[in-house]
Order: sequence, then C-alpha cells, then structure tokens
Amino acid sequence: MVASPVESEVKEVVQQAIEKHGKSPDALIPVLSEINRALGYVPAEAIREVKRQIHNPAERTFAAESQLYGLVSFYDMLSTQPRGRHVIKFCENAPCHVVGGKAIWDALRETLQLKNGETTPDKKWTLVTTSCIGLCSVGPVLLVDDDMYGNVTVEQIPDILERYE
Ligand code: FES
Repeated sequence: MVASPVESEVKEVVQQAIEKHGKSPDALIPVLSEINRALGYVPAEAIREVKRQIHNPAERTFAAESQLYGLVSFYDMLSTQPRGRHVIKFCENAPCHVVGGKAIWDALRETLQLKNGETTPDKKWTLVTTSCIGLCSVGPVLLVDDDMYGNVTVEQIPDILERYE
C-alpha cells in the first residue's frame, strides 16, 4: 500500500528529528519539539512513528505511546492538536493576575471569541494559558509566538493583534 502524502511527511519529519537528536531518553523532548515545529503540532501518527523508531529493547532504547502523549500534554510548547498560525500564551500565575491579568485574559477571550486551548475558525489564532515565564516584574505578560509583551493593558490588545498577518 502506498503511504498517503501526510503519512510520508510525518515519517520523514520523525526520521529527521531522530537523526538530529538521537534515541536516548534525553532526546525525547527535543525530538517532539522538532516535530511540533515542523508540523505545527504532534499528531497521533507522529507519536506512533516515534515509538516505532525508538522503542527497541534489544538496543536498550525505550519509548511508550503513553509516555510520549504525557510529554506532549505536559509541555506548553507542544500540542496534540493543530494550532493557529499564531499562538498567544497568556501567563495565568498569581503575580501577573494581581496586576491586571484577569482583565487582559477576559479581553483576549472576548476579542478572539476563544476559550483556553481553542483556535479561531480561520486558523489564525490559538489562545492558551501558560505558567510563569519568569517575567513577573513586567506583568501582565503574554507571548505571541516568540514575541514577549509585558505591562500589557487592555487598550494595547488590538494594536498587538494587528501586528500579525
Ligand atoms: S507570574 Fe507571570 S511571568 Fe511570572
């Protein structure tokens, strides 16, 4: 049976990630991150393929699907679901919350009409919460892709969103 282009692409991306980072336990997160970067998320097919390529008791390399799903679920930068072209990560921890974070979060949800973890129908935006990113002194804080915004006000939100295609 000829593999569909999607399956082929997933296999190739997984292969390249493993060639680059190896099969050791320490390599699992870099491998999954590489896949997430290449495909925009870590689909179930990729998890199966990572397990298939890495798990080999004879070579003493181990990977279980449940372990891989656990890693993808745990880390904010990884996702089992397709995300939008731009991902907004909003810090939900107390230091940001007490300096106005709740109002920012409400404004983001209202402006984008999204709940936590959702993606807009046009696939432009995904909105997620994240834990402290170490910038508490300039809270409230949000990240749009790799861009950091601190001391964010509700009034700034439209301007911030307009910067992205
Ligand atoms: S609590 Fe928000 S960056 Fe630390």
